[in-house]
Amino acid sequence: MTPSHAACRASEVTVATDGGTLDHATRLRRLGEVLEAWHSVWQPLPFQHPLLPWEADHGELAAALRDLSDAEAERLQDAPLSASALSQWLPVEELATLVELPDLAAGGEPTLPDGWGVFVGGRKWRQIQAFAPLVSADRPLLEWCAGKGHLARGLARWHDRPVDALEWQPALCEAGGALAYHQSAAVRLHQQDVMAADAECWLNEERRVMALHACGDLHVRLLHLAARRRGAVTLAPCCYQRTADAWYQPISCQARREMNWSMSRDDLAMAVQETVTAPGKVRRERRLANAWRLGFDALQRSLTGRDRYLPVPSLAYGQLPTTFAGFCRWAGERKAVELPGTIDWAAHEAEGWRRLAEVTRLELVRHVFRRPLEVWLALDRVRLMEEAGFDVRLGTFCDRQLTPRNLVIEAEPWA
Ligand SMILES: C[S@@+](CC[C@H](N)C(=O)[O-])C[C@H]1O[C@@H](n2cnc3c(N)ncnc32)[C@H](O)[C@@H]1O
Repeated sequence: MTPSHAACRASEVTVATDGGTLDHATRLRRLGEVLEAWHSVWQPLPFQHPLLPWEADHGELAAALRDLSDAEAERLQDAPLSASALSQWLPVEELATLVELPDLAAGGEPTLPDGWGVFVGGRKWRQIQAFAPLVSADRPLLEWCAGKGHLARGLARWHDRPVDALEWQPALCEAGGALAYHQSAAVRLHQQDVMAADAECWLNEERRVMALHACGDLHVRLLHLAARRRGAVTLAPCCYQRTADAWYQPISCQARREMNWSMSRDDLAMAVQETVTAPGKVRRERRLANAWRLGFDALQRSLTGRDRYLPVPSLAYGQLPTTFAGFCRWAGERKAVELPGTIDWAAHEAEGWRRLAEVTRLELVRHVFRRPLEVWLALDRVRLMEEAGFDVRLGTFCDRQLTPRNLVIEAEPWA
């Protein structure tokens, strides 16, 4: 029962969340209204605009942001929906309430032992340990986009029963098969493109499909198939911007009816921008690269006379040239910007750092809307399943320090 536009008109179901005071439909509607009302403020990228298009209409907000101390800016980066001077201009309190979701792992179920994660990165294994207890083994399990099938392997051992797993990369299937054999886990890794027509046969009402951090189109595909085939789902969605569509296509009937604003892939990327997990030295190099990009941007604007942001390709960690001048020569070559023999490098580098401080503050306005956007996207998925006749819970499965992508959707077909 995938929603079509005709089905959409008929469907006005409102389903209450367990324990929460807001049902999912109301939450989706209100979040959508706030995101729409403020989209001219959260959509433009401060990195690209020395003067943001919204500053003329919200001059006091822009001034308040620019005036923030370093310490306050840093605090708000970490907790953008906490009380602050920004609440005078932005609906921070309401958004904080709208994104408050139950902790679905609160039961403190026992989980997979630490020692079983020897072949998995430490953080990834802790995420699996947090997610696994939410996957009820009341029916045969199937892992969607499984990689090496670490989650499937853990659950196969825990419940001492076979678990199927789908992954399209043959090398990952092979490596996952070898790990399962080594740990005597009954995991059957199947090479399968989940976007292909034959993926549908894996889902039915007897099965529960689990997906930890399945990206954009891959998890939307899972939900559409599960809705049609009435399979139960436990999903932690991720990377909403990984989609074939350049512009966001709402998937629930409700969001299709209510969304009067548009969202590009870049806007979707904002929902998953938070990277609390990057190590200190990676963050330091990223800061330096950003200051240099902004310094180069100011330089190219003055040299070419074109007051337009010029995107420069990104560099892998450790590839950044050692000096600002070296970086500008590298960027100039890539973007066909001819650099004259004499340039005041120190002044342009200083301008880059000044812009970085400003951009960091102006970005805070986007941080305020980041989690609300992520929750809105998750609710669009929740409503798809509710409209198709499922009981759905939306909540978190771990602390955001472990992964900021900590939302989980549990969908059970009505009997
Ligand atoms: C973000 S990873 C998640 C892997 C695993 N669930 C985890 O948490 O480590 C996404 C996985 O989806 C797989 N994948 C991508 N496109 C796919 C497709 N069309 N069909 C099946 N698997 C796919 C990738 O190869 C990758 O292993």
